[in-house]
Amino acid sequence: MSAPTEVAEFYDVLFRRRDVRGEFTGAPIEADVLDRVLGAAHAAPSVGLSQPWDFVLVRDRDTRRSFRDHVQAERSVFAASLDGERAETFSRIKVEGVLESSLGVVVTYDADRGSPAVLGRHAIADAGLFSVCLAIQNLWLAATAEGLGVGWVSFYREDFLRRLLGIPQRVRPVAWLCLGPVERLADTPDLERHGWRSRLPLHDVVHHERYGQRRER
Ligand SMILES: Cc1cc2nc3c(=O)[nH]c(=O)nc-3n(C[C@H](O)[C@H](O)[C@H](O)COP(=O)(O)O)c2cc1C
Repeated sequence: MSAPTEVAEFYDVLFRRRDVRGEFTGAPIEADVLDRVLGAAHAAPSVGLSQPWDFVLVRDRDTRRSFRDHVQAERSVFAASLDGERAETFSRIKVEGVLESSLGVVVTYDADRGSPAVLGRHAIADAGLFSVCLAIQNLWLAATAEGLGVGWVSFYREDFLRRLLGIPQRVRPVAWLCLGPVERLADTPDLERHGWRSRLPLHDVVHHERYGQRRER
């Protein structure tokens, strides 16, 4: 039996979502669409309702060019760590669309928000960071539903991005998200298409009762 229409539509968005690098058109995003996408991010669950995220919208081309140059330098650092086939495969993979996208959304984590008594974070400090990642995923899915693409860029040093955007030392930049209209969303992840790595079968990552116990299919 197939799922009700609205459920099927939700899964359609979820499976259509892609990390975008090369397909941005650069066209502007309508203000109300951007508001909805940011509103979706801000509706994410967070430990102790701390809402430890902020969103820095970066449109300025000089700022974006500085960031793109830094990302390219970090790409070279990573490339230098690779040998043979890995190096050759990586050389064909684009890792950012900083200038081609319509804007950058830098998502940050402020561990002080709602502190000192963040309900649910006393034993797991990373729970704050997990919350920011959920906001990013909400943003990613909402953008996909709106026909926009998102590309997560992590080839940067946190202190570089802090300096570039005036982010206080205690606040952690978690992601630079390239955002904007796209020509299309690819059917398969770029990394899969280029032979870097493939999505694992679901069965490989599901355990029953104890870690390592898998069920016969
Ligand atoms: C934390 C995180 C960091 C990532 N950093 C980068 C990056 O720096 N450059 C890039 O091209 N893709 C980056 N990605 C995108 C992944 O490569 C991508 O999600 C993965 O290959 C699966 O493809 P899909 O998102 O299209 O399904 C990142 C994704 C995550 C979740």
